[in-house]
Amino acid sequence: MSLRAIFAKKLVTPQGNGPVRGKEMNAIRVLENVYVVFDEKIRDITKDAPGVNVLAQVELLTPGFVDCHTHIPFYGFRDREFVMRSQGKSYVEILKSGGGIHSTVSKVREATVEELVKFNLPFLKEMAKRGVTCVEGKSGYGLEIESELKQLKALEELQKVAPISISTTFLGAHAVPKGRDPMEYLQELESNLDRVKEHTDVVDIFVDEGAYSVEHARWFLTKAKEKGFRIRLHADEIKRTGAALLGVELGAVSVDHLLKITGSDIKAIASSQTAAVMMPATSFYLSESYAPARALIDSGAIVALGSDFNPGSNTINDPSLVMHLAVSKLKMTPEETLTAFTLNSAYVLGVAQQVGSIEPGKIADMVAWKVPTLEAIPYLPAHDIVDFTVKNGEMLKL
Ligand code: NIG
Ligand code: FE
Repeated sequence: MSLRAIFAKKLVTPQGNGPVRGKEMNAIRVLENVYVVFDEKIRDITKDAPGVNVLAQVELLTPGFVDCHTHIPFYGFRDREFVMRSQGKSYVEILKSGGGIHSTVSKVREATVEELVKFNLPFLKEMAKRGVTCVEGKSGYGLEIESELKQLKALEELQKVAPISISTTFLGAHAVPKGRDPMEYLQELESNLDRVKEHTDVVDIFVDEGAYSVEHARWFLTKAKEKGFRIRLHADEIKRTGAALLGVELGAVSVDHLLKITGSDIKAIASSQTAAVMMPATSFYLSESYAPARALIDSGAIVALGSDFNPGSNTINDPSLVMHLAVSKLKMTPEETLTAFTLNSAYVLGVAQQVGSIEPGKIADMVAWKVPTLEAIPYLPAHDIVDFTVKNGEMLKL
């Protein structure tokens, strides 16, 4: 690929290979009137780029967003549940009565890999258009090993055709399959971890009311760690169960959701290498409370942002809307949201050496904006403000 450049009236980016903790998340680099010179990788940031093909002159350039938590691939919608919840039923009531995650499970079990790819590819394109250049996807809607592996295969097939990078997580323990004993099911998953390893080295579990207990998670995650998996937890979202503390104790890469964590949980997370993944779009979508992002950051935690895009608890995947909620509801600064949604979320996915900031040596994943300031991104949620997205040095035509 030949060298090319973008002239940015303003460039804003976190720096380094992360993770960035606490208030340091505000220390972003701001440059004006610079050329970013790149091929597949960023080669230079300069005031002058003689002889280099200048692709565009843009108002604002940021790193591509890294959405470190989604539930792609899923199949079918749950629009009726959304209406039921709006009329008073709770997420857990719907789950316990066999709906919720279980209703997506029935659809995913029936779907072929090709159908999963066809259904989910448009979402990945939509996210690319909105500035996401790396996305995490996970299994969790199979709830039996073959269907779980089918989802992981679908992610591999999606990677062949998607315009953005996909990181894969195994969430076989997303819910307890209907009519099964939780421990017996976890043992089945555990005995298949070598097969899972052919697709991913990250394991996640949903620890909460209506899902798995801390004791279940301790057993399963310890086994996964012994097999060399990195671990993550859906933690303390609906009830405070102690899942975040377990994550810290076991050296999880992240604990996600955290709506119900307490002061001592915050302290433990803040003095660990475990990232706290905030997903304010889910709180918004479920009309729930928000995670204590401000206290986490003020205590020195590594805070990352994700969308949690899924067919049940949140269908929002637009980074500008997630950033809007991070600023207005989580009380994060625009600078903190940028770091959380780029470099720190790249850290969660284990790719912060390669992406998450605009610096020489990193992959050329960037977003060019029609607006002139970082603040304008959360200020204009869900508006058509992305000029174009650059992935691996290519301007995406979407
Ligand atoms: O992260 N909390 C559990 N799992 C998902 C929801 C999945 C679904 O409802 O389909 C979440 O919010
Ligand atoms: Fe989730």
